[in-house]
Amino acid sequence: MITGKICGTGSYVPPHVMDNDDMAKLVDTNDEWIRERTGIARRHVAKEETTSYMAGQAALRAVEQSGIAPEEIDMILVATSSSETIYPCAACEVQRMIGAVNAAGYDLNAACTGFVLGFNAAQAYISAGMCRTVLVVGAESMSHMIDWTDRSTCILFGDGAGAVLLRAEEDGAPVWTAAHSDGKKGPALTGLSRHRRDWNLEEEDKEAYIHMDGQAVFKFAVRKVPEIIEEILEKSGVSADEIDYFILHQANRRIIEAVAKRLKTDISRFPMNLEEYANTSAATVPILLDEMNRKGMFHEGQKLIVAGFGAGLTWAGCLFEW
Ligand code: COA
Repeated sequence: MITGKICGTGSYVPPHVMDNDDMAKLVDTNDEWIRERTGIARRHVAKEETTSYMAGQAALRAVEQSGIAPEEIDMILVATSSSETIYPCAACEVQRMIGAVNAAGYDLNAACTGFVLGFNAAQAYISAGMCRTVLVVGAESMSHMIDWTDRSTCILFGDGAGAVLLRAEEDGAPVWTAAHSDGKKGPALTGLSRHRRDWNLEEEDKEAYIHMDGQAVFKFAVRKVPEIIEEILEKSGVSADEIDYFILHQANRRIIEAVAKRLKTDISRFPMNLEEYANTSAATVPILLDEMNRKGMFHEGQKLIVAGFGAGLTWAGCLFEW
């Protein structure tokens, strides 16, 4: 079977950092509350950097690490819900920035689940023989989408981008995917704004920002993420004990701990970096993959599960080998 193998990873986060004390200067909150409820200590916030720029930087690093010529890339998928332009899409901007002149590209939006859905789509393109080399990027400027006066949401998010380059491998290790949506629960997490900084919003327009029923989203994640992981494990015949790492969307430490508990799996196999970056939506999973890769935590043949969840509501996962 032809499947995609990761041959390069990259990430980019803007250098400007806001810690919890900085947030406490903006809204009625404090470091202790944020750390205890979420595990977040800091977030990186884009100043001049756009979503496409961050996506391009992450992509350049992934391509450079892979040693593959940009001309060999067939497809670029950028998962984002916060691109500064609707068109040209961020994927075409990335194509221009990295010189992937032979690639087709498009953006996909499934909020925080976007990267995992893009990864699954890339695997499908490769298995179907339609593409050999696919770049998947998750990139977000969440700081444009949040109401900086709403303490229940603004403390949760950060900006950044991550990328993986997948290469077709004949007789590759099997890949197992699952994905779901529940449109009826869409109102639990909504966001309309794309260009917050350009708008002078009146009070009544504040609905344009991200709105969230935090507890409903929390319960959804804690129920659906273990369910989809178990669905993938059952399909594949692989047991949870055989999985080296569960690389989950980095929204909240308590969600990840609850998922580990439900799966009766030690938390040490659930790596986290949300303390540093907060929730960068579609970018969390590829940023974490890149950090782990550059720390040398991955070895040939290790079994990994990636899983995302978010607005829509949407959730998805994939089991693959390093
Ligand atoms: N600082 C201090 N207090 C805050 C606060 C903040 N930043 N945000 C909310 N509070 C207050 C609330 O106003 C509330 O006060 P009250 O009891 O006087 O009404 C109290 O803290 C508890 O609020 P609650 O919403 O019940 O807290 P929680 O334990 O559910 O934690 C979240 C809130 C948002 C951290 C949590 O629900 C969560 O993480 N949900 C999932 C969100 C998520 O990950 N979304 C993205 C998914 S992709």
